Amino acid sequence: MAVKRILFLLADLVLLSAQLCTEIPNPGSLKQIDAGNGLVVGVEPTGNAFMLNGEDWLYLAGNMKHVTSGVSGVWMVDNDNNVYKMIAGNLVNVPGFFHLIDAGGDHFVAGINSENETRCLSHSELVALRPNSSVSWTYMDARLRYFSCGQKSCWGVNAVNDVVFRKGIEPLRSCKGNSWNNIPSKFYMVEVGNDGSVYGAKPDGSVYRRDGFDTNHPAGTKWTKLTDITARVSHLSYDMNILWLITKDNRILRCQL
Ligand SMILES: *[C@@H]1O[C@H](CO)[C@@H](O)[C@H](O)[C@H]1NC(C)=O
Ligand SMILES: *[C@@H]1O[C@H](CO)[C@@H](O)[C@H](O)[C@H]1NC(C)=O
Repeated sequence: MAVKRILFLLADLVLLSAQLCTEIPNPGSLKQIDAGNGLVVGVEPTGNAFMLNGEDWLYLAGNMKHVTSGVSGVWMVDNDNNVYKMIAGNLVNVPGFFHLIDAGGDHFVAGINSENETRCLSHSELVALRPNSSVSWTYMDARLRYFSCGQKSCWGVNAVNDVVFRKGIEPLRSCKGNSWNNIPSKFYMVEVGNDGSVYGAKPDGSVYRRDGFDTNHPAGTKWTKLTDITARVSHLSYDMNILWLITKDNRILRCQL
């Protein structure tokens, strides 16, 4: 009898994990998704950018290649590398040429410019930002392919999938940080949530969570594979206990963790 009960329990657990991820309505297919500060935004391969609104996707703008939502607002980069911040319902150009922008930092934004350099816009620059004002992006001493920031830490991936962590960022004072830590592992992309949680996708599409964070280990100590997620993933983003996945077969999954 006890054995039977355990078997039923196991069956329930299998069912539960099968329901961890649900497929969400698709505006076509997305090549990039970013969840932050309660919003979910994404870009189609055509360049149309959308924001999730209940079961629907709201169209935001066209000709985009990267879109981000975070504590520092909604930002986008277009196919000509121009940078925009959503201000009062309009996309306002911010000087600079970028491939990727991330608004997950608390009081700063960071990205990869058209020279592949990691650069950030500090708190003082952000609060002074006005339409057509000039800005100065701070160089963060690395050239990377992918970059993502949480409240006070940034993670990146270089052209050969090595993972790095930026130490010493002081969000209100300086977004530059002071050194890069190598995190021995190979990932296609790594994303930091607003709360500092870190998730990564391997080149083969498997999904991992970074574990072991404490004051002595600001970059954590190990990667844990999320074996419940069987889909192969090309892009991911995390916000408020939900992991958003774009699968290699072009589905969009919402995984409640
Ligand atoms: C940026 O990196 C890509 C590969 O990730 C490379 O093809 C390109 O030439 C680089 N551009 C610059 C300006 O370094
Ligand atoms: C900003 O610059 C653009 C292009 O030069 C101009 O059309 C627009 O009126 C300017 N906006 C403000 C608020 O000055």
